[in-house]
Amino acid sequence: MDKFIIDGGRRLNGSIRAQSAKNSVLPLLAASVLTEKQVTIREVPAIADVMCMAQILRELGASVEFRGGDAVIDSANASCHEISSALTRELRSSVFMLGSLLTRFRRAVISYPGGCDIGLRPIDLHLSALKRLGVRIRERDGFIFCDCDRLRGAEIALDFPSVGATENILLASVMADGRTVLQGAAKEPEIVDLQNFLNAMGAKIAGAGTDVIEIEGVKSLGGVCYLPVKDRIEAGTYLIACAICGGETEVTGVSAENIRLLLHKLRENGCKIHTKNDKIMISGGGCLKCNRRIETMPFPGFPTDLQAQATALNCSAEGGALIVENLFETRYKYVPELRKMGADIEVNGRNAFVRGVPRLHGASVTAGDLRGGAALVLAALGAEGCSEVFDLSHIDRGYADLQGKLRRLGAQIRRVRI
Ligand code: EPZ
Repeated sequence: MDKFIIDGGRRLNGSIRAQSAKNSVLPLLAASVLTEKQVTIREVPAIADVMCMAQILRELGASVEFRGGDAVIDSANASCHEISSALTRELRSSVFMLGSLLTRFRRAVISYPGGCDIGLRPIDLHLSALKRLGVRIRERDGFIFCDCDRLRGAEIALDFPSVGATENILLASVMADGRTVLQGAAKEPEIVDLQNFLNAMGAKIAGAGTDVIEIEGVKSLGGVCYLPVKDRIEAGTYLIACAICGGETEVTGVSAENIRLLLHKLRENGCKIHTKNDKIMISGGGCLKCNRRIETMPFPGFPTDLQAQATALNCSAEGGALIVENLFETRYKYVPELRKMGADIEVNGRNAFVRGVPRLHGASVTAGDLRGGAALVLAALGAEGCSEVFDLSHIDRGYADLQGKLRRLGAQIRRVRI
């Protein structure tokens, strides 16, 4: 077990290059079993979720090697269609292995997926879409048994633009018989990345990034060497850190278009933001203003994965803010920990009412999930005095070398074994 020790109050100055997006690399790893040829995914982040997904692929019989920051996958010998419950409990994104396994083996067995404790996280949209593609599904003792004679193209409409369900549908229809038209698709940049990756393997997919995606099933897919899109959530996390701490920081590699609403909110706080090509420069600090209202929505709305970090910023800004979390039921577990630092927040269902205080103070706090844990680190960086952040395993799921990157910007943060 490790903890962070953070001395707050340091300004952050310098440049950070964003990692490849966790929420793109994970579906790309799942897609790599669709071909028996070699697949290389460039610059994968050294994070726990990627290691876990690599272990899932190895359990199926594929080989996964990390060479100089790239993941090289060879699934020619993959023969197993079942994923252990330990690994699926560990990783929510194991659920879109269903699409890959059904395409490769025409059958799949997984247990109900786990992941961050931020809500119920049902998979009804995934399963009803797979049934439309000809999959028979049985659920027993917490396991999901899927099989099909053939996957056949279909008209599918999602009641909610679920990211994971959209990805599962692409993976299950890419080599199906005939054409699939998906209405109500998620429009996140990571969906566009999955389309580009699959098309580079020989797929025929069009429309990702809009709410209608068309997939023409193909007979086979080839190998690929692919550089994923950069992580807009990681980039946003560092931009918010600089807003809280003050200083001049640039984040490179991420298109401003992919976090447009965050940049709008940071300007509302009083930060100066300048963007040029794939560079986002921020001048933060000073007396920030609260964002009156932040409402999380599917892309291109304000990302739910930046809700906790933006709330942390509002805790020590001037005025008050209403935060509305529309995507997940319990994504405020970090709030009691922020209160230990002096935050004035009231949670009522999906709403959090923040009253800004002049400054938070250091405290010992514990991360409960990935983005909530990141929010505690950001709050500690801006707080008066010393803080400790425990249970870093949540943060390690999605941020590669968080302390190293923050130290290079001037933060006083140490990771110590306890
Ligand atoms: C992906 O999760 C991301 N994870 C999440 O990031 C992100 O918060 C989320 O999309 C929303 O953007 C990965 O990509 C690995 P959803 P996913 O299906 O696919 C409901 C992070 O911090 N829903 O779009 O699970 C669901 O309950 C993680 O990096 C159903 O009702 O999200 C939720 O309310 C956390 N039935 C909403 O849709 C379903 O079958 C959004 O879920 C599926 C989802």
